[in-house]
Amino acid sequence: MPIIGLNKCIFIFFDIFYVSQAITHWVVTEEGRIQAQLDSVFRLKRPYDLVAFLKQEELVKNVSKYLDEMIQRKIDMDQKWSRISSAPEVEHELMSTDTDCIKAKNSADDVDLYMNVFDHASDKIIYKRQLPDDKNIKGNIHLDCKKISRLDFSMATFPHLQVLTQPWNLTWPKEPEIRLPLTSNQIAYGLSKNKTSWYLYNLASLHWRSRGESQKAIDCIKRAIHYAPREYKDTPLLNLGVMLHRAQCTAEAAILLHSAIDHAPHKPFGHFVLANVYALLGDYNRSIACYDNALGLDHNWNLVRTMRHNILCHSKLKQRLQQLQNSFTISIYILVIYQNKCKTLIEQQH
Ligand SMILES: *[C@@H]1O[C@H](CO)[C@@H](O)[C@H](O)[C@H]1NC(C)=O
Ligand SMILES: *[C@@H]1O[C@H](CO)[C@@H](O)[C@H](O)[C@H]1NC(C)=O
Ligand SMILES: *[C@@H]1O[C@H](CO)[C@@H](O)[C@H](O)[C@H]1NC(C)=O
Ligand SMILES: *[C@@H]1O[C@H](CO)[C@@H](O)[C@H](O)[C@H]1NC(C)=O
Repeated sequence: MPIIGLNKCIFIFFDIFYVSQAITHWVVTEEGRIQAQLDSVFRLKRPYDLVAFLKQEELVKNVSKYLDEMIQRKIDMDQKWSRISSAPEVEHELMSTDTDCIKAKNSADDVDLYMNVFDHASDKIIYKRQLPDDKNIKGNIHLDCKKISRLDFSMATFPHLQVLTQPWNLTWPKEPEIRLPLTSNQIAYGLSKNKTSWYLYNLASLHWRSRGESQKAIDCIKRAIHYAPREYKDTPLLNLGVMLHRAQCTAEAAILLHSAIDHAPHKPFGHFVLANVYALLGDYNRSIACYDNALGLDHNWNLVRTMRHNILCHSKLKQRLQQLQNSFTISIYILVIYQNKCKTLIEQQH
């Protein structure tokens, strides 16, 4: 019976709908008399209005039509809602069924997209023998790359990147994990003898990073890039890329790292850091491609494998949550239509 459905509708959406006993409507009695009747479902707003009463038949048709529509809407909507699970449910389901998520979760590796990577190039260059022992260097020489050589303008140091032309007086956390083959005195002494040594400028930059002095580190690394011959340029480019990445200049870091990879495509570190950068930029496909490159160059690098699982898991979770949000939007849309129909129905019975 439509009437039952109607009352239900009122009840669901308009919690307490006060049914006034005073409102009546007209009925035709068995004897053909027209009289007012109490307690009808078709309550007229104006019980004395006979014309309105005569439209009742049409109204009945309208009401049943709306009711049928509404029942269909309600069925659709219930189906939609029953298929929607909550966000924690989605997450839990993915975490316990998806192979990437399970592998990421079960790995003992620490996943850190800001994991420090640096290259002091000492596997290629053996400089130590050319330098006196630290104890034989008289006094403390201040390691100031800016004073050692002037660097007026160099296309090699990316002058179009604004972040590299600004002062770097941001707080830089010390990087004690950076260990160098030379002491700062040896580096300074070496630079006093060879003012164009990219290798020593690169070490000087790493030294200042380990001390948390970002401006000095930038001054030195720019000189390292400037003086490095093509075959070695990837090393200071990678180090500057990592600095930009750690300074959260992510887009600029990507430019530097791409350049480092162009110079040395066979070295896995550049691919690895670039993968982390793309992950932070939310470009998961590129990130995965870069992890794959790194793994292609170093099959045994399990940390990269873990990071890759993590990023895949993360991107799937993001996708599922996006889908969830979309179904909510659709369901809410249907709910609004349903409510509007319901309102029309209620208005019509007056
Ligand atoms: C029935 O519905 C039609 C179209 O929705 C409307 O024009 C008409 O006024 C309605 N009749 C009554 C009595 O409400
Ligand atoms: C660096 O310091 C200078 C002057 O001390 C200041 O004007 C500038 O805004 C600072 N830059 C940043 C990035 O904090
Ligand atoms: C200066 O250092 C660079 C890089 O370490 C090296 O290639 C070059 O031969 C050195 N120059 C002299 C004069 O020792
Ligand atoms: C990422 O890759 C997947 C599968 O290859 C594809 O469906 C998706 O559209 C890609 N996303 C972007 C942003 O390119």
